[in-house]
Order: sequence, then structure tokens, then C-alpha cells
Amino acid sequence: MKPHTRTFLSAVLLSGSAVMLAGATGCGGGSSSDAVAQTTPPTGITPQKFADAVHAVMMADRTVYAKQVVTRLKKQEAPVKPSEYWQDEEHTIPLPAQMFRMGAELVNDNPEAGFTYALKSKWPLNPQNKAEGVEIEGLEYIAEHPDENFYKTEEIAGANYFTAVYADKAVAEACWSCHNGHANREVSYPEFKAGDVMGGVVVRIPLD
Ligand code: HEC
Repeated sequence: MKPHTRTFLSAVLLSGSAVMLAGATGCGGGSSSDAVAQTTPPTGITPQKFADAVHAVMMADRTVYAKQVVTRLKKQEAPVKPSEYWQDEEHTIPLPAQMFRMGAELVNDNPEAGFTYALKSKWPLNPQNKAEGVEIEGLEYIAEHPDENFYKTEEIAGANYFTAVYADKAVAEACWSCHNGHANREVSYPEFKAGDVMGGVVVRIPLD
């Protein structure tokens, strides 16, 4: 991932948390600037709230694509079908995970987006999705605490980031049957079953 320069988004996030911090420390009267901080509503959101919000949107889009497009077409025996090799095969559409990665790549290349995201795993079918560093720590945490998210501030190439990792669970039979039988799986690949954390969505927000 390429490091981002300070963006409009991080400026908004920071000013928001600064105002909230000022509000929190300004209790018990004090100077007039404390009073202003108390009465001024927060103008921004915390990095955690921002990460939670964009994660909710990306998961909603992935679920709708999987349910209302991919699964629906499969049930209808439609003249187009989902295929991992959609670029080389006629009458095929991308898998949900590929759709997700292509969207993530556009956002990662867009300097105005101000953040990056990716679906990662310790055992990726696509090596591009291999987790590294804090991402691995996050994946191990959510594997042990599947109902929690993982949040951490990390430093990459001298810049600070807020990094969130959200569990991606085996919610349907198709998840584990496709992954467990896939040609790309390495020797150490787990035998996924219902409810397993198969990977995680990583959202990374620059703080500097
Ligand atoms: C038809 C096969 C298929 C199905 C069904 C499927 N996947 Fe995948 N999945 C893939 C492929 C292929 C990739 C690699 C996509 C890419 O190029 O980034 C992938 C990527 C992933 C990744 C990123 C790490 C990696 O392995 O590259 C996770 C996590 C993941 N899938 C979880 C799931 C979950 C959870 C489900 C069920 C909701 C699911 N998958 C359903 C084939 C499948």
C-alpha cells in the first residue's frame, strides 16, 4: 500500500476528534474557550466511526451483489454465470471477492478517497490478498474474538495510520466449498467450515 499524504479526509477526522477531545476535557467551567468547546457540536467523526461506516457500506454492496446478482443468476440457470476466469471466458461475471478487490483497487488509486481498504487473509487464494504486519495481528485477534473488530494505530514508512480489521466469516456453504477445493490453496490451507473467520476486511486511514 502506498502511503498517503495528508488529505482532506484526515484533516476532517482530526479536527473532529480534536473538537471532541476539547469538549471532553472542558468540563467544570473554566475559560471562555472551554465554554465554546462545550457548546460547539462536533464537526467531524473519529477514525473508528469512519472505518465502521465505510465497512458497513462495502459489506452491504458485497452482500447485495452476492445475493441479488450472483446467487439469483445461478438459480435461474441464466445465460451468464459467475466465474473466477470472467476476463477470459464469455458470458461470465466476476465473483463477489473479485468485485470487492477491483473496487478496493480503484479507491486505493484515488488520492481523493483519503483511505484504503482490502479483503485480506493469512491463506489467500490470490497472493495480492496476503495479510502483513498489523493485519496478521488483527486477523488473529478476530479469529479468537469473532464478534469483535480489531483497531490499532500503526506506523508505516514514518507515517501514522488508524487500521481496522473486520472478520469475514464463512456464512454460506459456497464459501468453504469453493475455497477448500480451490486449486490455489497451499499445503497449510485450513479446512474451512461454517462460521470460521476466513479473512478480514482491512480499512486503513492516514492520521498525519
Ligand atoms: C466460487 C468460488 C468462491 C466462493 C463461492 C467464495 N470465494 Fe472467497 N475468494 C474466491 C477467489 C477466487 C478469491 C480471490 C479473489 C481475488 O482475486 O482477489 C477469493 C477471496 C476471498 C478472500 C480474500 C483472501 C483470498 O483468499 O484471496 C476472503 C477472505 C474470502 N474470499 C472469503 C469468502 C467468503 C466469506 C465467502 C462466502 C461468503 C467466499 N469467499 C466465497 C473464491 C470464492
